[in-house]
Amino acid sequence: MIPMVDLGKQFSGIREEIFLMMSQILESSQYILGPKVREFEGKMAEYTGVSQAIGVASGTDALHLAMEALDIGDGDEVITTPFTFFATAEAIVYTGAKPVFADIELDTFNMDCSKIEEKITPRTKAILPVHLFGHPCDMEKIMEIAGRHNLFVIEDCAQAIGAAVKGKKVGSFGDAGCFSFYPSKNLGAYGDGGMITLKSSELADSIKGLRNHGSKGSYVHESVGFNSRLDEIQAGILLVKLKRLDEYNKKRRMNASFYRAALCDSVRCPSEKEGAYHVYNQYTILSGDRDRIQKALKEHSVSSVVYYPQPLHLQKALGFLGHKEGDFPFAEQASREVLSLPMYPELEESSIEQIAEIIKSVAG
Ligand SMILES: Cc1ncc(COP(=O)(O)O)c(C=O)c1O
Repeated sequence: MIPMVDLGKQFSGIREEIFLMMSQILESSQYILGPKVREFEGKMAEYTGVSQAIGVASGTDALHLAMEALDIGDGDEVITTPFTFFATAEAIVYTGAKPVFADIELDTFNMDCSKIEEKITPRTKAILPVHLFGHPCDMEKIMEIAGRHNLFVIEDCAQAIGAAVKGKKVGSFGDAGCFSFYPSKNLGAYGDGGMITLKSSELADSIKGLRNHGSKGSYVHESVGFNSRLDEIQAGILLVKLKRLDEYNKKRRMNASFYRAALCDSVRCPSEKEGAYHVYNQYTILSGDRDRIQKALKEHSVSSVVYYPQPLHLQKALGFLGHKEGDFPFAEQASREVLSLPMYPELEESSIEQIAEIIKSVAG
């Protein structure tokens, strides 16, 4: 059996450090917004190359609170991709704003920057690029468009921690970078967690209030906020793993190169744009034979997942946006043809060879 991710293998390499960290936190009796959260926020700000990082309860909350702090709400429009995890659009809807989609490019699965400007209206308030599967968006182009039209940029970095464009990390380009520490992410907690990276201390202050019932902790409430705090236990785990993140990402990239060498003649492999540092949260191929490939892998006990079988504009929950099939043809094609293969730092080269042989026997 080859799984999509093997968190047990990763844990076995850090077991002692994790147990030591857990006992320190449990002995300290500080569980919410304590010293480990502050230390992790400082380290994440430094890692990303920004001045502020605020821990929250999830990646979804990171997106939601960042938009709340930027005063995005009723009547506003936010331009994003139709090919992403549902939470991206869900967070826009939470604020009262409307998600407006721009189709993707198939080689990176990211929003096609040449299709953003035609979506801008007087109601557009922000662009929300998603660095899907770990490939960074063309942030120079997006920042240039946003600058010309006076729009905010909120980066969805949930799948791309450590990814960079010309050496500059995702989460350091826009007004806010939103990260998820869901266990299977490149930096995963042992539960839920999220973070917002920022350059503005004013914005950081308002998010600190929003995550804690609109209060700075003194039982004086300046606004109606939320309960969305990162806890000490998750921050402790993330501190242990952050030290190893670059090494984990390098191993993912090495595994991607093994896949590419073995598969690029049989299926469409993910590409890396010039200057882009891809961190392969997923290794996602495209093939007209997708369903046959998945069936063959299953018969050989190899896991694979279709991320995502339905683009957002065709999801029932977003039916109120009034889209129909054919509105975003590349996102629709991706949904028909994508398949994500097992990808994690500890994945063995021999397993990749085995997976590639099965795929080639069907799609050769
Ligand atoms: C692209 C994207 N955005 C947002 C999220 C939401 O993150 P979380 O699950 O931590 O709420 C995810 C998580 O899977 C994601 O992949």
